[in-house]
Amino acid sequence: MADQKMKGRTVSLMTMVFIFQVLFALLHGCFAASRKGQPPRNGTTVHPTAVNGFGSSVFLSVSGNVYPLGYYSVTVGIGNPPKAFQLDIDTGSDLTWVQCDAPCTGCSLPRDRLYKPVNSKFLPCKDPVCAALHSPKPHQCKKLNEKCGFQVDYADHGSVLGVIVSDNFPLSLVNGSLSSSFLAFGCGYRLQNRGPHTPPTTAGVLGLGKSKASISSQLSGMGITKNVVGHCLSGQGGGFLFLGADFVPKSGMTWSPMLQNSFDKHYSSGPAELLFGGKPTGVKGFNVIFDSGSTYTYLSSKIYQTVLNLVKKDLSGKQLQDVKDNALPICWKGARPFKSVQDVRNYFNSFALSFTGARNIQLHLPPEAYLIVTEKGNVCLGILSGTEAGLGTSNVIGDISLQNQLVIYDNDNQRIGWASADCTRKLRGL
Ligand SMILES: *[C@@H]1O[C@H](CO)[C@@H](O)[C@H](O)[C@H]1NC(C)=O
Ligand SMILES: *[C@@H]1O[C@H](CO)[C@@H](O)[C@H](O)[C@H]1NC(C)=O
Repeated sequence: MADQKMKGRTVSLMTMVFIFQVLFALLHGCFAASRKGQPPRNGTTVHPTAVNGFGSSVFLSVSGNVYPLGYYSVTVGIGNPPKAFQLDIDTGSDLTWVQCDAPCTGCSLPRDRLYKPVNSKFLPCKDPVCAALHSPKPHQCKKLNEKCGFQVDYADHGSVLGVIVSDNFPLSLVNGSLSSSFLAFGCGYRLQNRGPHTPPTTAGVLGLGKSKASISSQLSGMGITKNVVGHCLSGQGGGFLFLGADFVPKSGMTWSPMLQNSFDKHYSSGPAELLFGGKPTGVKGFNVIFDSGSTYTYLSSKIYQTVLNLVKKDLSGKQLQDVKDNALPICWKGARPFKSVQDVRNYFNSFALSFTGARNIQLHLPPEAYLIVTEKGNVCLGILSGTEAGLGTSNVIGDISLQNQLVIYDNDNQRIGWASADCTRKLRGL
């Protein structure tokens, strides 16, 4: 990334690269020993296909914040007996993976907190989930019992390499049942550049993207939940995440069609127009990606420059001065250190994204959706140049702009929705 000082991981948009022969030759040795003496698996309480066809939902508490942590995570159990793993919630990537004791190079957790592939099974290369991870590249399995390897390269230049396994993934359902299905996920044993941008405490990533490989797609394929992902990230930290349709409000949501094109595997919507203080800025016709795996919002250079100019122009004559702060590239200080974004609300105007498609749909970006107040009491712009960050012309709406909103990715109805919400409270959607 252009800015090495940002805390937390920055962008999660990923590409997958698959490696075969070499990887499997290596792996065979690693896993052979650990798979000996594996106890028989048991405990499936949820039948793969729900009788009524409606399924239930999974509801998980979220912890984390935009600043200073830079990520939001959930804790899930994996294995039998289940072991707890804290995973970064990521709607910008598909593959769920955990740091894996295979053994691992580059893992950040102590060995006893790594996932041990003892009872897990290798996902065969010919499994549809493995094919989905390859997509849109053609999927070829050379040998009969070939395993499914993966490499994920994140936009912040971190990468993880490993093998796909399937293991017991117990999840409590809101109807009171326990789902103990085997789900496929990555056992990552070679992590690179998981440096300044990677949360050191998380064990991996919960991939909630739209491909068949994501956890939500897998659960929906088994009839356990609907293929709907929702998150509510509180600006005060914490929040909640759900998989399934039980918490989708019947009214009050703003829905925008989810773009469907073969080259964009991400949750995106558009075309959008940028408004500032309710007025057009002249910037329009761009698409945006909703990515909970990105801490900040990234706009392609032209849109970013417009945003920066508008904010700066708006600040002229006001008592804020440019200041250097390690947190982010663009910061200002006041006469006294600020305590929260509330203290600077009067200095900044609101942005909005107006989705110019069918109806006039807006995503409001008030000052707290694009500014942070740092430990030093400065206020910094939480919108960054995606072009400088290596994202090309993509525009990525990250956690900072998704805070205090219930955001729903409804894959069943191909739409993305949002509504202001107090994310510290559990919603009742039924
Ligand atoms: C399932 O496995 C767990 C631990 O591996 C064991 O305690 C439990 O008794 C088993 N349950 C059944 C129904 O076999
Ligand atoms: C809860 O939902 C799951 C998944 O659809 C289903 O298999 C299970 O039978 C349901 N449990 C109850 C108590 O309704």
